[in-house]
Amino acid sequence: MTQTFKIFRYNPDEDKKPYYKSYQVEVQEGMTILDALNEIKWKQDGGLTFRRSCRHGICGSCAMTINGLNRLACETQIKSLGGRTVEVEPLRHFPVIKDLAVDMEDFYKKYEAIKPYFIAGTPPTDKERYQSIADRKKIDGSYECILCGACTSSCPSYWANPNFLGPAALLKAYRFTFDSREEGLDERLPILNSRYGLWRCHTIFNCTICPKSLNPTWAIGELKKKVVSEKY
Ligand code: SF4
Ligand code: F3S
Ligand code: FES
Repeated sequence: MTQTFKIFRYNPDEDKKPYYKSYQVEVQEGMTILDALNEIKWKQDGGLTFRRSCRHGICGSCAMTINGLNRLACETQIKSLGGRTVEVEPLRHFPVIKDLAVDMEDFYKKYEAIKPYFIAGTPPTDKERYQSIADRKKIDGSYECILCGACTSSCPSYWANPNFLGPAALLKAYRFTFDSREEGLDERLPILNSRYGLWRCHTIFNCTICPKSLNPTWAIGELKKKVVSEKY
């Protein structure tokens, strides 16, 4: 089957404005959007730029907008899109570096801002910091985030104010806040409670687009309760 792809193109160094270019690809059973982009790059247009690495939904580098929804190119089967022209665009509301590759620097700065590591309150001993199986389960649904950016790119509160930490950084904040070994809430919670922190989230749910089926909306709600209950 021959499939038409309409792909966003933009080279800020050469193009006055973005445009779309169409390509035809012979599609085989089991092919993903990433397979089609590779076919185009390797056989039709070597200048097409996009990010990818693992090809297995692990590295988070191939997030893009496919037929209007943020998805991972390597996990999206072409067949699942119903046969009509497939439109591929970069993640919205992130600056375009070239074609489908966006600038993630600000996204990672927000990740850094929530202190994505344990903050120790007690000195290390010669024993490990024990965590029970039940406590470990409490962070299920947060540690699995692959930082693809699909949720933050789809959040209207982030569109309205790009200073908002955004759902991806806040989900990571959940992962450390609710880990039984964390000892630094006095340091972490004020960051979440700050001007561009979790109260900028208006529970719009767009971030549940997550390709890993995570639920940042729920996690942000739990963080809000935590901040209120701890009286920050
Ligand atoms: Fe991507 Fe999901 Fe993590 Fe957001 S929460 S960055 S959509 S994996
Ligand atoms: Fe944005 Fe998700 Fe909140 S879409 S407004 S972070 S629920
Ligand atoms: Fe790694 Fe798609 S290439 S998630």
